[in-house]
Amino acid sequence: MIIAIDGPAASGKGTLAQRLALRYALPHLDTGMLYRAVARDVLAAGASLDNAASAEAAARALDHLTLSDEGLRGRHMSEAASVVAAIPEVRATLLAIQKAFSRRPQGAVVEGRDIGTVVCPDADIKLFVTASLEERARRRHRELIKRGEQVSEEAVIEDLRKRDERDSSRAASPLRMAPDAHLLDTTKLDIEAAFFAAVRLIDAAIGRAAHS
Ligand code: CDP
Repeated sequence: MIIAIDGPAASGKGTLAQRLALRYALPHLDTGMLYRAVARDVLAAGASLDNAASAEAAARALDHLTLSDEGLRGRHMSEAASVVAAIPEVRATLLAIQKAFSRRPQGAVVEGRDIGTVVCPDADIKLFVTASLEERARRRHRELIKRGEQVSEEAVIEDLRKRDERDSSRAASPLRMAPDAHLLDTTKLDIEAAFFAAVRLIDAAIGRAAHS
């Protein structure tokens, strides 16, 4: 079973994807970490983030063992990731990795921006997770403060607005809800409620597939 989860920045996809991976005993791929790691490696090489050749080289040389590096979750790496994510050569290179992961026989929960549209268009179930900009900013602000970053909620709102705009307007695989995705608005849902809403949608989809 492939569960595809997309949505704008800080919509709660990550927490939801982790919980669903446990619930259905599936491996989980957070594709945002791939883009974040490419951005980190481009910066470490001293190149500019919009240099397509350097970014493609970083994507090709990506070391999977460095993907869980906690520093990748920082505020500046989020912004940097969305710059390299607009480069078609980077997306093409990372697409192969994502497709290979999702083709493994045990299935997967894959989360990102273009999973339902490009990476796993045949996923068994597609969720598009969203929440109001203010609520997403509140959640991300809380996370960043916990990480020890000094930032105001207003600055986080601005970060998310800018990043969503860049992710939605790029030519290569923009952030889009797939026509066959289920919209899950978590503005008024806590983690538990969002999880149960997702489980209901998934179980209904599995049930339909089993009876057809
Ligand atoms: O956790 P958050 O929603 O803030 O971000 P993320 O999922 O880690 O993604 C970071 C950035 O990577 C996004 O703003 C996108 O620019 C890019 N990304 C993408 O283009 N395609 C994906 N499938 C996943 C992430």
